[in-house]
Amino acid sequence: MRTRQEVGAQAPVMARHVACLRGWHPALARAELASLLPDLETERLEGRRLMCLDGDVTEGVLSQAVAVSSGCQAILCNALVWAHQGPESMDAFIAAVIEHVQAHPQNGTVAVRAWRHEGRIEGVGPSQLAQRIGGRLSDAGYAIDLDAPDHRFGVVIDASSNTIACGWMVGFGDESDGIATRRAAERPFFKPVSLDPRLARLAVNIASGPVHTGTTLDMMTGTGGFLIEAALSGRTVVGLDLDEVMVQGTQENLAWALKGHSDHMATVCQGDSTNLSTALPQGCGPVSGFVLDPPYGRNSQGSLAPMKLLESVLISAQEVAHSNAGLVLILPIHPMGEHPDAPLHDEEVVDLLHGEWSEVEQALSLSGWSIQGRWIEHVHASLGRLILHATVVPQD
Ligand SMILES: C[S@@+](CC[C@H](N)C(=O)[O-])C[C@H]1O[C@@H](n2cnc3c(N)ncnc32)[C@H](O)[C@@H]1O
Repeated sequence: MRTRQEVGAQAPVMARHVACLRGWHPALARAELASLLPDLETERLEGRRLMCLDGDVTEGVLSQAVAVSSGCQAILCNALVWAHQGPESMDAFIAAVIEHVQAHPQNGTVAVRAWRHEGRIEGVGPSQLAQRIGGRLSDAGYAIDLDAPDHRFGVVIDASSNTIACGWMVGFGDESDGIATRRAAERPFFKPVSLDPRLARLAVNIASGPVHTGTTLDMMTGTGGFLIEAALSGRTVVGLDLDEVMVQGTQENLAWALKGHSDHMATVCQGDSTNLSTALPQGCGPVSGFVLDPPYGRNSQGSLAPMKLLESVLISAQEVAHSNAGLVLILPIHPMGEHPDAPLHDEEVVDLLHGEWSEVEQALSLSGWSIQGRWIEHVHASLGRLILHATVVPQD
């Protein structure tokens, strides 16, 4: 696959599609997009917030992936990735953009959206670039509609790699995806354990893959962090909790978060996740995505020690899992500094708040789960999180 390649001075480089990632945790966002678009090859570009997507897929599939994603701002279709070579190269860039648009024409009205990633490239500003490209599109016969265009041409100025990526865009661009309006602390039922929606959405997507692939199960729903994000994405989702107070609180949160979405497919019930074959509601079917955020320290019901509880839940999950099910497990750890921009190496040991990493590894392996990736999230000076993705090991 050709991604960013220097083909002589000022030559444009054709990538397939380029995903523009949010700055919060690009490494997790890359894993999320790979999971939402399993038929595409994905490759990180030089800029940590740019990712190349290669393979045949419709624009509708790309749109749906961005719409439910937490970490992706936009996908630039059939993107042009330009290695910036100073202000004097801008005329050549604009000419390349127009050539690119002629090769990928659109019907209907258009607007140009430009934004920056990772600081500034000297002499290249988003509004000035948007105006220049918009002017040339207008000269080429396109009707401009800045408020409600049929098509948006996205331009990302990525200072970390000194590149400008552009193409017809699906997704939000630099506009808000609305996640700030549903912060956990705003919900009617809030506890300090409530997961941040951005992380919860990422976890649901990594575990479950594309929407409409089966049921997602939030095995210890607490205040409904994962459940709400899965329901808002249009997924069939079940939330279980042993504690009746949590179940009632989650029902309130769900009603609050889903007002106006009467057609959601979310169910919450009281149940023990160490015994899923009886706890799951009738007709739920095999589960294709498991999300698990177990209690910190001792189980709230006081019955099982943390590692024993984890082991029992993993065994029980494996028993009701679809043959290609995914799991995302979140565990508190002692902080390891700012989140690294890549998954942890296979051999890297994490310092869990409760128990030893070797015990988690053993519990996963004994219960039939194979680790696919591990990431670190920095929460604050005394807390970090391990985010672990595993898939079920096929049984003979
Ligand atoms: C850390 S909290 C989950 C927080 C949740 N992710 C949120 O966003 O609010 C863990 C939850 O696990 C529940 N729990 C503990 N043991 C359980 C079990 N065996 N089956 C189901 N839920 C259990 C607890 O009642 C608690 O609500």
